[in-house]
Amino acid sequence: QRQKPLVVANWKMNMSLEKALHFLNSVQSDPQDSTVVICPPYPLLYPVNIAMKKLQTGVQLGAQNVHWEDHGAHTGEVSVGMLQEVGCNFVLIGHSERRMAGESEEAIQHKVKQVLQSGMYPIVCVGENSEEFKQGLTSQIVKQQIEAALKNLPNISNIIIAYEPVWAIGTGQSATPYQAEGVHQTIRQSIHDLHGSIAHRIPILYGGSVHAENARSLAAYENIDGVLVGGASLEVKSFQSIIRSFN
Ligand code: G3H
Repeated sequence: QRQKPLVVANWKMNMSLEKALHFLNSVQSDPQDSTVVICPPYPLLYPVNIAMKKLQTGVQLGAQNVHWEDHGAHTGEVSVGMLQEVGCNFVLIGHSERRMAGESEEAIQHKVKQVLQSGMYPIVCVGENSEEFKQGLTSQIVKQQIEAALKNLPNISNIIIAYEPVWAIGTGQSATPYQAEGVHQTIRQSIHDLHGSIAHRIPILYGGSVHAENARSLAAYENIDGVLVGGASLEVKSFQSIIRSFN
């Protein structure tokens, strides 16, 4: 049986409070059909959470990053407890834009552990860059990244994986659904090798130039359990149409 699809918006460093509230006024999601998550920048989490509750949008809240410690002298960082206090259930970890800014595999592993311990859902991002893709290294890279992030974890049942080929992010050049399905199969096999049959229940999302026109064909593939959407999640019209493609 297929899992309920997951449609995640990553607003990155975009949106204003006014635009976000307008967005929430218009977006609609039926939690029976799919789980829809919005990951706004930190300062918007609190007001967005209040608005989500008031408007009963059926949408859930996620953050774009987190620190692996509970508290302390870490200027500019936030903890899982702080995220939970403002209503977050999900956290993106290891997005390629953060990996490119220097986030290490070790940091990613600490973060995944901390988020799992809190009961929240980590969305762990993996994917090859354009050079690696051209050299045919995609499987090798995603396997390494999955292993680094998921090894030595006692219980991975809350884990969500997002496969985002770096060359497809924000370029308009999406992987074909067939290509993505192949990589998702590899990812599922890697999770299986590490943690056994629970791998079949781990949602694997595709991200990278997902838009209203390609969402439905992505949704048709067995191992594509949802999408992680950047640019097309900033406008209600395109995001709503992506949500509909997964219903
Ligand atoms: O987290 C989202 C991804 O980086 C995809 O971004 O949809 O703008 O290509 P994009």
